[in-house]
Amino acid sequence: MRSDPSESGADAKGLNPDILPVHVGMIMDGNGRWAQKRLMNRIRGHEKGTRTVRDIVSACRELGIQYLTLYAFSTENWGRPQAEVKALMVLLKKFIISEREEMESRDIRLNILGQLDKLPGDIQEEAQKTMDLTRENRSMTLNLALSYGSREEITRAVQSLADQVAQGSLKPGDITEESISAHLYTASMPDPDLIIRTSGEFRLSNFLMWQAAYAEIYITDTLWPDFTREEFIHILKNYQERDRRFGKVKCSTSSDG
Ligand code: FPP
Repeated sequence: MRSDPSESGADAKGLNPDILPVHVGMIMDGNGRWAQKRLMNRIRGHEKGTRTVRDIVSACRELGIQYLTLYAFSTENWGRPQAEVKALMVLLKKFIISEREEMESRDIRLNILGQLDKLPGDIQEEAQKTMDLTRENRSMTLNLALSYGSREEITRAVQSLADQVAQGSLKPGDITEESISAHLYTASMPDPDLIIRTSGEFRLSNFLMWQAAYAEIYITDTLWPDFTREEFIHILKNYQERDRRFGKVKCSTSSDG
């Protein structure tokens, strides 16, 4: 998470601090292709991708983005070759340990979205340690989506609400959008305003599907290991030009009632 404030400060010129997205989600795709293009093992792509993660977390903290959610390992990713899963787990563990002090000193709170109990025991322990240490930090929340899938998340929320109905503490008619949101991994967080996907694929791939109802989506052809803070700032500028209507019409200043 090494930073170069002067560099990002210069690039951030022209950004309106009043209309920054509060919550940005990132689908970090293209690590494998980045490596394959260079005739390298896919794992090298994930290693290079980890450096991008550090840069983007730093950029978000410097720019004042309050929530950043990174799709680091999906429920479907367990189906990848064992060596790749193992290498990703090693990288994730190293990241959670190596960035612990930096997150603490930069007032960043770490949070895990997903099936924490499905991760190897040592990662669970290290993640818990970092989450405990950074729990009170408020300048930024970094959500790592690990063993995360929207369908699993929504199923889990429905099961929990159904339990309450079965016990008689909740009426089916009292289930609301808010109560479903409150049972997701992102409970009490704002929905993402902007979701960025690298490597040119036009899909959500089971990422924040409930929360993304009104998110602005930006797809870039850049592969994740090549993604930079400069391109991120360019995307933020594009976001600031968008007309977000949330299904409504724009308020008119004329006297048309
Ligand atoms: C998708 O690219 C990426 C992943 C499944 C893993 C993302 C992991 C990292 C960026 C590194 C570790 C993360 C942290 C937070 C330290 P892909 O492998 O599917 O690429 P491809 O579509 O080109 O094959």
